[in-house]
Amino acid sequence: MLLSRIQVTHFRNFSSSLFELSPNLTLIIGENAHGKTNILEAIYTAIYGTGFRESREFELIHWDFDDSIIDSQFLDGDLKQRFQVRLLKVGDTRVQKKFFVNKTTKSSFQYRKNQMQAVLFAPEQIRIVTGSPSRKRRYFDMVISAVDVVYRKSLRSYENALRRRNKVLEIYQTESDATRELSFWNALVVEHGSELIKKRTSYTQFLNDHPNVDGKKFRIEYIPNEITDARIDDFRSKELRYRRTFIGPQKDDFEIYLHGEKDKNISLYGSRSEQRMVVFWLKLNELQLFEQSTKVKPILLLDDIFSELDDRNRELVMHMIKEHQTIATTTESEIKDLAQMPEVVIEL
Ligand SMILES: Nc1ncnc2c1ncn2[C@@H]1O[C@H](COP(=O)(O)OP(=O)(O)O)[C@@H](O)[C@H]1O
Ligand SMILES: [Mg+2]
Repeated sequence: MLLSRIQVTHFRNFSSSLFELSPNLTLIIGENAHGKTNILEAIYTAIYGTGFRESREFELIHWDFDDSIIDSQFLDGDLKQRFQVRLLKVGDTRVQKKFFVNKTTKSSFQYRKNQMQAVLFAPEQIRIVTGSPSRKRRYFDMVISAVDVVYRKSLRSYENALRRRNKVLEIYQTESDATRELSFWNALVVEHGSELIKKRTSYTQFLNDHPNVDGKKFRIEYIPNEITDARIDDFRSKELRYRRTFIGPQKDDFEIYLHGEKDKNISLYGSRSEQRMVVFWLKLNELQLFEQSTKVKPILLLDDIFSELDDRNRELVMHMIKEHQTIATTTESEIKDLAQMPEVVIEL
């Protein structure tokens, strides 16, 4: 499947713009703050129904308007498929979303059945390696959710149950009240929490089965914080005393090592270029996972990555570009010759 065009209305800084894309490489060139990243985010939203920045969802809508439309056309061989996401601002900060496939209304789950995938590659993703455990978890949640509906649902149910469980702990009056009310939420956090841990384990296993990139070998260690009936019992009095949940996958961590005489923890001791290599390793595996599980080649979204690349990295990127429909942004117009001339150049 290829993305042939995308039309955005009131999306971020665009009032109304149509972008036609190459089946191979499309280069978006423009000065800072002209909306290059916003176009990639529109593509991401067309595919996943949600943006990729850490901003709140209503910020996707142009601030002068109350609604936004992302209208995309995919080609599946000769078959044209039209996907549309509509965002409507409700009140000051809430967003209502509507999804359409070929003009028929769909739920967000049905919308995601199209199986199209996008892999985003941006310099700030080095924070997957250097950032907090929560940032790492968010990254792995995003990857696994993209290919696994059950995971996505478990994640939502787990977060909801955890919130409710914490609320009970926060406001309970007597221990017997707490015990009674907690038992319901305990069952849910154990059920969904175990599902999350199982799938996180299996994705890290997938990564460890594909450890090599550019002559280097990486390894990821998953450190789950198990949530079982037995552990809930163990932590019972502590949780009642401190009035919050102490265990569960919301406290998981991941460590990444570069193989050597002595394996090196890359978050702590990696050079910038080794850390960047880890991001390549993760992204290459993301591409592979998506392709394996959906049989569709993901679209590659490269956001301003060229300026930071050394020659080795550049070669890796060139290889990825050749294999995938790619939309790349850059501020440098000389980058045009990087990929033996992209077929489509969008200048902002
Ligand atoms: N909801 C919004 N409404 C209008 N403009 C927005 C909105 N969100 C972001 N912008 C603007 O979009 C611009 C940033 O676009 P961006 O895609 O990050 O630029 P680039 O990647 O080319 O540097 C900024 O000027 C920002 O103020
Ligand atoms: Mg940008």
